[in-house]
Amino acid sequence: MSTIPVEKIRNDFPLLKNWIYLDNAATTQTPYQVIHAMHEYYTSYRANVHRGIYELEARASEAYNYAHALVARFIGADFYWIDEEKDFEFSELIFTSGATQSLNLVAESLSRGWLKKGDRVVVTAMEHHSNLVPWIRIAQEKGLELRYVEFDEEGELKLDQLESLVDDNTRVVSVTLVSNFLGTINPIEKIADIAHKKGALLVVDGAQGVPHMKVDVKRMDCDFLAFSAHKMLGPTGVGALFGKRELLEKMEPYEYGGDMISDVERYSASWNRLPWKFEAGTPKIAEGIGFGAAVEYLNKLGMEQVRAHDYELIRYALKRLEEVPRLKIFGPSKPEKRGGLVSFAFEDVEGVAKGPHAHDVADYLARRRICIRAGHHCTLVAHKTLGVSASARMSTYIYNTKSEIDAFVDSLIELEKKFRS
Ligand SMILES: Cc1ncc(COP(=O)(O)O)c(C=O)c1O
Repeated sequence: MSTIPVEKIRNDFPLLKNWIYLDNAATTQTPYQVIHAMHEYYTSYRANVHRGIYELEARASEAYNYAHALVARFIGADFYWIDEEKDFEFSELIFTSGATQSLNLVAESLSRGWLKKGDRVVVTAMEHHSNLVPWIRIAQEKGLELRYVEFDEEGELKLDQLESLVDDNTRVVSVTLVSNFLGTINPIEKIADIAHKKGALLVVDGAQGVPHMKVDVKRMDCDFLAFSAHKMLGPTGVGALFGKRELLEKMEPYEYGGDMISDVERYSASWNRLPWKFEAGTPKIAEGIGFGAAVEYLNKLGMEQVRAHDYELIRYALKRLEEVPRLKIFGPSKPEKRGGLVSFAFEDVEGVAKGPHAHDVADYLARRRICIRAGHHCTLVAHKTLGVSASARMSTYIYNTKSEIDAFVDSLIELEKKFRS
């Protein structure tokens, strides 16, 4: 039983008064506390960071750097301060523009001097395009072999297959912690074991995992972890990449420009300390500070409670969805194997009735002010594997209630009836 005081915290999210918001896997809502932290930066100490020496700049730098420390601590990443908590000696946590940029950064940077022709990269058939297309492109450019691990009827990865695909030529295994289509929570610790036994690096796409459960990069033993602030109460346009220090130290920067250098000569340059080596140019200062405030908000609730709340709602939703005729649910049947989402499609009954398309479903619900997602959710490979062109997806977070799940399921029942009559 979760202890999240849902009715109380809903007051922090102004928009929830008017909508039933069940599209949290796409993006979450923002509490006043996060908006306030960014507002304060803009109105009280707005300045660039890591540049000047006046007071506003110093405050902005401290707040921006401190936000890195909050996010690093949230996932168990290492960092060491210098100058009385003003700057890092090093930090394993880089701010990016989101999970997509984090994953592109890893793939691009590893492709510069690390990956070579004939090397293998293992991904899964349930990956989001952000954890697929960068590898596809680099595989084409470098002549790498891309191998896919499939999932079974329950939406679970075939670990035996993974074990046989990862061999001595495998340099990278890249896998999602939670599938944004099937909902499956993948066993990252086991996958890390399989990858590391063969000397491969493990990249984890945490976009749907980090917002919903306690994640510890040391316990998972991943080499990289990517996630986005906007899926965990933070602002858009900012996210993070964790990387093990010894790897980040050796890797090439992703982008080049201001702030990421330690020295520049006419024909050469050397790189700044971590994390700044990977943060070229003026960063997302207000957004970074908002990201820190989002993590503080989640810390107050406790990530075990966040997970328990999602679990209760998803268990309840799966049970209630049994009442909807002709509904096909994708992914694990057991709620404990799922993150906070359920994707589904209506089946046609041959010669009797056509099922509403995913877009009909989302449209019907939208007219009742219920927000869900329809489409392929940037997982075309997984949809094609299952032979479906689109699905509808509802996804929960800390502020959702069972009565919202009821409104959602009751609307599906109504819609199904309409399509039959
Ligand atoms: C599993 C997964 N990976 C990566 C992403 C990309 O995240 P962003 O669009 O925030 O970069 C998403 C977004 O939906 C996702 O669900």
